[in-house]
Amino acid sequence: MSNDFQRRLIAEFRANGGALGGRFEGWPLAVLTTTGARTGRSREVILGFLEIDGNGVVVASANGADRNPAWYHNIRRNPRVTVETGDETYPAMAAIPRGAEYEKLFARVVAEAPGYGEYQARATREIPVVVLHRIDKRGKGMGDWLVEVHQWFRDELRALRDQADRLADGSATALVWPKPDLAQEMRAHCLGFCAALRRHHTGEDSAVFPALAGQFPALAPVLQQLSGQHQEVARLQESIRELVDGFVPGESDPVRLRTELERLASELEAHFAFEEQAVVTALNATAAAPPTA
Ligand SMILES: [Fe+2]
Ligand SMILES: [Fe+2]
Repeated sequence: MSNDFQRRLIAEFRANGGALGGRFEGWPLAVLTTTGARTGRSREVILGFLEIDGNGVVVASANGADRNPAWYHNIRRNPRVTVETGDETYPAMAAIPRGAEYEKLFARVVAEAPGYGEYQARATREIPVVVLHRIDKRGKGMGDWLVEVHQWFRDELRALRDQADRLADGSATALVWPKPDLAQEMRAHCLGFCAALRRHHTGEDSAVFPALAGQFPALAPVLQQLSGQHQEVARLQESIRELVDGFVPGESDPVRLRTELERLASELEAHFAFEEQAVVTALNATAAAPPTA
């Protein structure tokens, strides 16, 4: 479809509340605004539009051509889009389902609009399907939940640092202080915190991040960076564990432990902030928060 023709159709679509005449009469359509992968400029395209399980769905069929359309390349680079259905206009995250999820969705698409099956039969590529998750209307999402989990880690780490402060103060004021059970408490607390943090990062590396990278290719490089940070944090945790394990009240240097905890806190804060900025929108758009026990 030529650009000129596209422009005319989009103007007609907007003038008539989403309805087109002629050979497009009665077709459910939407205008999708993406950001040009090369130009960074706003790009509009009018597409066949389906609604499946409450989400808008568009198909990168390009009328069965052998190459994916430009708008599809754009959303691979930047998934933030605007959707105009004629009734309403909303911001969305454009996700690309993979594997079994794709197969299931494509079958649903073909069941509703058999023309896409004909395009697929003709094309030499697998025709991608894109799910438009609106981001303006939603309940509590997985991203919100992630922020809460991070907050729990922040609070726990603050408590650990307070404990280390008490250890340090105690050693400075009296030889018999801190009491051995204070060091013991610290050890137990540290162990619990570190195990929880390891589980959190393992879950991200093995499940959350691969799922996100599949659906939002634009996120892949930043997710790799985040996994690298998990390794950094794991090294710091290991050094703290050694310090805490070998801590003898009255003998060991509590300042060193305190310094290492401070390093972990700032490293972790930077990691959480970067992670939240990178993935919260995509997580909120694609998954609801897990039910609270
Ligand atoms: Fe993380
Ligand atoms: Fe995290």
